[in-house]
Parts: sequence; structure tokens; C-alpha cells
Amino acid sequence: MLPRLARLSPVSVCRAPLARSFHVTATRLHDPYGLETAKQPKGGKRRKEMSVEEISAAKKAREAALLKNVRPKAEQERQQAKDEAEEKNKRLKKLATFSVLFTAAIAYTWLVATKLPEIQKKGEAKRELHKGRTDFDRTETVAAPRDTTECYDALAKVYDDKMKWEERWGLIFRWRHKVAKELEGDVLEMSCGTGRNIDYLDTRKVKSITFVDSSLPMLEVAEEKFRKAFPRFKRVQFVQGKAESCYDLAKDSGMKYDVVFETFGLCSHEDPVKAITEMKQLLKPGGKVVLLEHGKSAWEFITRYLDKKADERAKIWGCRWNLDIPQIVRDSGMTVVKNKTGGFGTNHLYILEVPEEPKVEPVVKVETKVETKPEQK
Ligand SMILES: C[S@@+](CC[C@H](N)C(=O)[O-])C[C@H]1O[C@@H](n2cnc3c(N)ncnc32)[C@H](O)[C@@H]1O
Repeated sequence: MLPRLARLSPVSVCRAPLARSFHVTATRLHDPYGLETAKQPKGGKRRKEMSVEEISAAKKAREAALLKNVRPKAEQERQQAKDEAEEKNKRLKKLATFSVLFTAAIAYTWLVATKLPEIQKKGEAKRELHKGRTDFDRTETVAAPRDTTECYDALAKVYDDKMKWEERWGLIFRWRHKVAKELEGDVLEMSCGTGRNIDYLDTRKVKSITFVDSSLPMLEVAEEKFRKAFPRFKRVQFVQGKAESCYDLAKDSGMKYDVVFETFGLCSHEDPVKAITEMKQLLKPGGKVVLLEHGKSAWEFITRYLDKKADERAKIWGCRWNLDIPQIVRDSGMTVVKNKTGGFGTNHLYILEVPEEPKVEPVVKVETKVETKPEQK
């Protein structure tokens, strides 16, 4: 025993217990460097004696093998600790989510059960108060009407770039979608501008489409956009003209439409009421006018802001953004089928129809015979 122990290096002695835990074979414990085994191979035949270099190489190899066995254990322990921490985190997260959802559910149930009817009542009262309200003290700040054609001629090239962000912030695409849903059959777009509604068109529902605008450069941008989007759609025409005289424009062709629509156009017309009445005359029986316009809001503070910036807006955009759209619609004399307001009360969507003619009762001539008594002779 003693001579064998003497052969063990101090490293191997202190590693012996660790090595045991990794099931190092009894042979290794007994002969950690495998020197004995190397000297006496199986079968009992004695091999050639090992040189000093060979012995030290074998010694190094054995030491490396032992170290290798130690490293995985430390790594395993670290990995295990990490897994446990992750598991704990996951459990905590689940618990937190559950508590939040549970509290929210309880709060919601409580709100619905106790406070909701009260809140709804208050909201309704407030809406009723603001509905169509135009009576707040507001000195006349709407810019004077003017022909804006030149203004839009100059804006045509930059219009889309400049409008892009304003429309995104105002979620205008949602409103354009709503308008596009109404388009079917023979359609006319009044004041089409650069064709910002083209992206929303469903040409499967549209039989023909006519684009009208007073500004030729704006119309040209729209035409380019349309041809690119729908190269095979041939029943399309682009007409330069004014909304206020559109009936005259179509007189020669005698064309009538299922839908005449306009988006953000009334604000730049000289006579918005006349424009609507002209559009009305272009309708087929049962046809409709669809308007998406911006104007003053029923919310006082919004309208005050629009009023304040009205001059600046009119100068840059040629548009009067604080017009009283509901009043203009009333003055046009058309029947409101649907009306939606949004965007802090500044966006107004109208679906209008021609009012039914009052029925005139046919005059029935009633012949009354007056019986006269025969004269007595
Ligand atoms: C604010 S832009 C709206 C363009 C487009 N409808 C849109 O939704 O983006 C107003 C457009 O109305 C056109 N316009 C102005 N006055 C007009 C009139 N009297 N008749 C027809 N178009 C007119 C302008 O040339 C301009 O293209």
C-alpha cells in the first residue's frame, strides 16, 4: 500500500473523493495514472517497461481526464441554479398576470353593476347638449368665399406629400373607407383633387367613374394615379369643371349617376350650397350624394381653435375649414339619410337623397246634379 501511495501525486490525492462521485472505477482509484495497468496488460503477458517520458505523458493525460470530470459537475450545478431561477420567475410572472386580470375583472364587474348606468346617462345628457349646437358666442370668422383654382394649381405637385401626415394623424383613411363602401354603379367624384380616394375604390362594384375638378394640374395627378392603379378599367373620364355648374357640364351627354360624391371639397367652393344642388340634379332616380367634409365642430373649444387659425389655413390651403356643414346641408334641401360626425366633431359624413316630391292629389271633378222640382202649372 505504501509504495503505491507514494506514487500518487498530491493533486490526485485531493481529487480522489471527487473522482469517486463520478464513478471512477476502482482501478483508477487504486491506480490513478493507470501505470500498473499499462505495465500489466490483460492476458497477463508482461509488456515492455515504459520510459520516463511515457510515464509522465500518461500521468498528464490522467490528470486532464480527472479535471474534465470535475468541470461538468460545477457547470451542472450552475445550470441547475439557473433553471430553478427561471422557473421561479415564470411562476411569479404567472401569478402577477393572474392577479392583474382578476383585479380588473372584479373592478369591471363592479363598474358595470353600479356605475355604468350613471355614466351612460351623463354621457347622453352631454351629447344631447352638444348636438348640433351652434349658439355659442362666435364672431363671424369664416373667410370670404373665393375661387381657389389657382391655389390648387400651384399645390398639385406637393399636395399629397403635404397632406399625408395630416390625414394619418386624423385617421382620415377610415372615413375614406366609409365613403368608398357607398360607391356603386355609375359614379361621379366631384373635386377629386389628386385622387386620394382612388386607393379605396372597389372597381368590381363601380360600372363607370367620372372625376371632376376645377384645377387641371390636380386632375392630371389623379389621372396618372388611376391609370396606374386600374390600367384595365376603361369606363373612366376626367373632366375639368366647377361644382357649381356641373349640371351644365353633363347636359350634353345627358349622363346621370347612381352616386355623386365629394370629399373635403365644399370648403374650397365659392358657393357650397349651389354645388350640392347641382350635384343633386345629376342623380338617377334613387341615386345619392355622399359628402365627407370638414367644418366647425359642436365642441366649442375646437371651433374656437379652427376660427383662430382660419385665415392661415385659407391662405395656405385655399380652404375654409370652419364652415357650418350641417347648415349648408340643410340649405341644400336634400334629405339626410345618414349622418356621422367624428374627429372631435370636425368630420361630417352625409348620405343625401333627393326629397320626395309632395304628392299632389288628382283633382276629381264631381258633377253634382241639382234636382229641381218640376214646375207646377
Ligand atoms: C381640399 S382639396 C380635396 C381634394 C380631394 N377631394 C381629397 O379628398 O383629397 C379641394 C379640391 O377641390 C377643388 N375645387 C375647388 N373649388 C372647386 C370648384 N368650385 N369646383 C370643383 N372643384 C373645386 C380643388 O381644385 C381641389 O382639388
